[in-house]
Amino acid sequence: MDNFNRTLVTTALPYANGPVHIGHLAGVYVPADIYVRYLKMKGEDVLLIGGSDEHGVPITLKAKNEGVTPQDIVDRYHGIIKKSFEDFGIGFDVYSRTTSETHKKTASDFFKTLHDKGEFIEKVSDQYYDAEAHQFLADRYITGTCPHCGNEGAYGDQCESCGTSLNATDLKNPISVISGSVPVVKQTKHWYLPLDKHEPFLKKWILEDHKEWKANVYGQCKSWIDLGLQPRAVSRDLDWGVPVPVEGGDGKVLYVWFDAPIGYISATKELTNDWEKYWKQDDTRMLHFIGKDNIVFHCIVFPAMLKAEGSYILPENVPANEFLNLEGDKISTSRNWAVWLHEYLEDFKDQQDSLRYVLTANAPETKDNDFTWKDFQARHNNELVAILGNFVNRTIVLTNKYYEGKVPALGNELTEFDSSTLAEINVICDKVADSLDQFRFREAVKEMMNLARLGNKYLADSEPWKLVKTDAVRVETIMNISLQITANLAVLMEPFLPFSAAKLKGMINGSDCTWEDLGKTDLLVADHFINKPELLFAKIEDEAIQKQLDKLEATKVANEVASKTVSPAKENISFEDFTKMDVRVGTILEAEKVAKTKKLLKLTVDTGIDQRTVVSGIAEFYKPEDIIGKQVSILVNLAPRKIRGIESQGMILMAEDADGSLAFIEPSKEIKSGSEVR
Ligand code: 2FM
Ligand code: ZN
Repeated sequence: MDNFNRTLVTTALPYANGPVHIGHLAGVYVPADIYVRYLKMKGEDVLLIGGSDEHGVPITLKAKNEGVTPQDIVDRYHGIIKKSFEDFGIGFDVYSRTTSETHKKTASDFFKTLHDKGEFIEKVSDQYYDAEAHQFLADRYITGTCPHCGNEGAYGDQCESCGTSLNATDLKNPISVISGSVPVVKQTKHWYLPLDKHEPFLKKWILEDHKEWKANVYGQCKSWIDLGLQPRAVSRDLDWGVPVPVEGGDGKVLYVWFDAPIGYISATKELTNDWEKYWKQDDTRMLHFIGKDNIVFHCIVFPAMLKAEGSYILPENVPANEFLNLEGDKISTSRNWAVWLHEYLEDFKDQQDSLRYVLTANAPETKDNDFTWKDFQARHNNELVAILGNFVNRTIVLTNKYYEGKVPALGNELTEFDSSTLAEINVICDKVADSLDQFRFREAVKEMMNLARLGNKYLADSEPWKLVKTDAVRVETIMNISLQITANLAVLMEPFLPFSAAKLKGMINGSDCTWEDLGKTDLLVADHFINKPELLFAKIEDEAIQKQLDKLEATKVANEVASKTVSPAKENISFEDFTKMDVRVGTILEAEKVAKTKKLLKLTVDTGIDQRTVVSGIAEFYKPEDIIGKQVSILVNLAPRKIRGIESQGMILMAEDADGSLAFIEPSKEIKSGSEVR
């Protein structure tokens, strides 16, 4: 580690508005944990920092929907998230939260320092305001019609139907989520971080001095910088967050993306009084582990904040990952399209390492990747069970069988196969370290598995079970070498598969082996005793996988129904508008199918005023002969229009179900035709 004496690893703070899922684990927490375990095993000074991001508009919206406070929401999810990380062995030195007092003070002071140094500019801008609720509306608090696809339930920041990013002012027919009223435009003042001012510095620091960053990270930074950096608002009109601590800040809070990364500092403060050593000394190497949607904030905005403050170091690297999809679809909290970590552990008890393994082997390191349950099963059964578990188990079983658990000595005469196998151990261990140093976790875990492959091949080709009666000395050598591979594996596995590594170390009584020992071929000395074998990985059967697939299928169906059931509320109309509609009770006198159509019936209806013809699209739901005499609701003053050549004089009102089926709106008792509906 050139010039660095310690490492500070931060992990993106997940929003505390839902539990964490496999995408979080694969993109951020497993790689960070692997890396930190690796450094700690090497005896380096390193901290792993995490916490929950508890501010921001989505949390306030969720609270509003549930009729609870934002604090209730974040308390609930902070607990669930923290437990999931513990359960999966993510070895945080501290896991904090941005509603902690230390954080509020740290973030507030940071803002004030920048303010007092003149590092902000102030600007007045137009923003939607809810005059009934007396508050400014964040983009998420406004719904309306998407200008691109016509979806009537688009949010002010994004249309979830077509995926387009929007500004609230782009929406047609905007409506406040809070009161349902039409928002008005009002002026408001905010503080901005002038990124344009920092552009020359950022350009050199990233594009010239950090060419070694991952291509996806470097590329994204370059395109932001090439577009030209603009001032970014760092405050919001909202009542949930860290209050703006300067004059004029009443009713305003720090923008969630301003306070969240400061959460890394607050958490370090909570962990140690020596926090400044990690944040302010040049011999600290700071690394941010994040997903790709966070790149701009960690490579551009946060460094600009730290630089403007003046006393902090900047990140040395930001090994951001791309996204993990699930069975071909984007993971989504709101659509419940995810494998939730706490649910995984209910179904796959004590099998944390299996998920850690698959998510690492298939990590979205350079491009988006897909998690499928079939792939999970295949990797688990064909790699963890059939290669790693199988090798370790055979070695330990045979050692117990032949020598009652006592490690046999290495003979004096080694074959070429023995020597090349022993030499390969070192080569593989070096490759793992090399890949980890470059944040190439897929490659690293593959090499780790290659050590098990090496062992498997060695044992299978040497066939000690065939020689045990005829060549005892040779068998001792073979078993000694197999045990050395096993001991190396126990160490090499640890960053990736900490639970299984601990189990294996227990089996071989090898708890004192360290990373330093890797590559050595005398880790287990002759006469050392090992224990009885335990199963490391059990085969995952088809039924367990099918259960998961069924669960996802059920989610899909539920989402389809939900997307149809509740259409968003329409804009308010006046009573006068309502009274323009002349709706009456009518009685169907005649009904027949319209030729060459599937859906249409031609009806003759007694409206009380007259008898008229109405064409109605109900043929899939009602047979003509069944509806004669039925009383229905009919809009009688709808301008006549021609449908399939027939003039339709009015419209029969129907209720439409989630699956699109139609039902008449009938009076609950017989009533005179022509009675008004209002
Ligand atoms: O994207 C997210 O989930 C954010 N809550 C990440 C914040 S990272 C940091 F800045 F705290
Ligand atoms: Zn749209």
